[in-house]
Amino acid sequence: MSTTGKVIRCRAAIVWNPGDPFSIEEVEMAPPKAKEVRIKIMATGLCGTEMKMLKSENIRLHYPIIMGHEGAGIVESVGEGVSSVKTGMNGHWGLSQCGECASCLNFEDNFCIQFKQAQTNLMPDGTSRFTCKGKSIYHFANTSTFSEYTVIKEISVTKIDATAPLEKVCLFSCGFSTGYGAAINTAKVTPGSVCAVFGLGGVGLSVITGCKAAGAARIIGVDINKEKFKKAKEMGATECINPQDFKKPIQEVLFDLTGSGVEFCFEAIGNPDTVAAALASCHESHGVCVIVGLLAAGAQLSVDGHLFFSGRSLKGSVFGGWKSREHIPKLVSDYMAQKFNLDALITHTLDLGKINEAVELMKTGKCIRCILLP
Ligand code: APR
Ligand code: ZN
Ligand code: ZN
Repeated sequence: MSTTGKVIRCRAAIVWNPGDPFSIEEVEMAPPKAKEVRIKIMATGLCGTEMKMLKSENIRLHYPIIMGHEGAGIVESVGEGVSSVKTGMNGHWGLSQCGECASCLNFEDNFCIQFKQAQTNLMPDGTSRFTCKGKSIYHFANTSTFSEYTVIKEISVTKIDATAPLEKVCLFSCGFSTGYGAAINTAKVTPGSVCAVFGLGGVGLSVITGCKAAGAARIIGVDINKEKFKKAKEMGATECINPQDFKKPIQEVLFDLTGSGVEFCFEAIGNPDTVAAALASCHESHGVCVIVGLLAAGAQLSVDGHLFFSGRSLKGSVFGGWKSREHIPKLVSDYMAQKFNLDALITHTLDLGKINEAVELMKTGKCIRCILLP
């Protein structure tokens, strides 16, 4: 029997209050309104960003909330006026791409104005499509993938290859695209260059994949957990170092190793101190440091202003600089053509009901990405 136009009762993982664990609940998922799409989620990753959100370290969120943003699924039904996607299609999402705002019209910019508006944690009409126990539940980043179903805006849904394995390509919704694109699009890593990546989680390993694809000659992985080194080398790091093994600050170690500093340095942790160290590790004139990790809102950076005198630069990057609807299908086809190793990021797979176990796995540092199956 068709569920189109009807409320669907389904399972979702709610965080009721800041600092609470996930709570598996039955929720009511309203049908999509105009220009919205309801998706049956087939797989979703748990990202470092949610780990931060659980510690309430992050952005201003509203509770209760359904988090999750690294997902892929199948379109269950579409609201009025939706023309670019159809029921039954394999869907995927990243940032929105309205195609009309100043950011969408600028070919070097991917921060669509409609994504900024999604930061209210509600749908565009100011209401939620989720309810549980009579309460309205907030959305997250216009995605909310820790649920069997979700409703998102049409302009955030991307049509992808119908044969792509959703339990793998869900990582294009955040971790992989964010890291890979930071190297390719934001830093524009050059062949033969010297790179360093601070933080070897799913995002940092994806940065390494991007540096390798761009032809970097040397890729130095930096992490305080040496258990991350084996995989980093498998993905393309030429050497790995642990700052805790040295008496000197890590920027001095990187200068000793490279002679004149790193040409492209990436911070994939989201910590103001490691951003400062990554910047100071850069080549004095043409070194580029890219902040890929999410810094808490209001986090202050303390960097020596003189570092910029000779030409170093510091840049931000969001979703790897990709325009979601335009670029994600191409990334998915590159994956299908085996142009890079995405599967190595997936170390665990669990039922959505075990999401708190996935959180514990992430905390051990042994898990790169745990895929949750709703
Ligand atoms: N120095 C070096 N490495 C560190 C440090 C430090 N001071 N602190 C943490 N790390 C390492 C951890 O050991 C871990 O391997 O950084 C890595 C972070 O990886 P994950 O927690 O798996 O996070 P990931 O999903 O890769 O995301 C990284 O990007 O999307 C954002 O919010 C996310 O800021 C986070 C970052
Ligand atoms: Zn736009
Ligand atoms: Zn993420």
